[in-house]
Amino acid sequence: MAVTLTVNGKQHQVDVPPDTPLLWVIRDVIGLTGTKFGCGIAACGACTVHVGGQAVRSCITSVGDVGDPVTTIEGLDPDGNHPVQRAWRDANVPQCGFCQSGQIMQAAAFVASTRNPDDRQITEAMSGNICRCGCYQRIHAAVKAASTGA
Ligand code: FES
Ligand code: FES
Repeated sequence: MAVTLTVNGKQHQVDVPPDTPLLWVIRDVIGLTGTKFGCGIAACGACTVHVGGQAVRSCITSVGDVGDPVTTIEGLDPDGNHPVQRAWRDANVPQCGFCQSGQIMQAAAFVASTRNPDDRQITEAMSGNICRCGCYQRIHAAVKAASTGA
């Protein structure tokens, strides 16, 4: 049975069972590999995308349950110049890079919904995104810069 979904502004009909994780559809069917698999149980945040503007863990989201448009890291900004991406570059955040698309998508949804957050709010919002390289201080600083326009 085909499932219809919109990813980064483009409509796709994918021939997969509706309980297929959105992550596998994004990566293996549509071919957008910027979204990463880390744990598969919503415990690391590597697979974070936006559905209807909300950050969701695509590894535990069935594609058949996706009603709103999906945005992946490839669609966040056509030129890679979303304020969060600019702040990320300014702070030179990544080390190995594996967690980074999930971190950026989580941060982008957060800064869109929270004006001038304090440190506690930033820590809380980013607490489900694990970075095995331990880039947490730079991630925090970049989220802060993006959310304050600094
Ligand atoms: S792969 Fe989805 S949260 Fe880890
Ligand atoms: S930059 Fe390596 S896991 Fe985060």
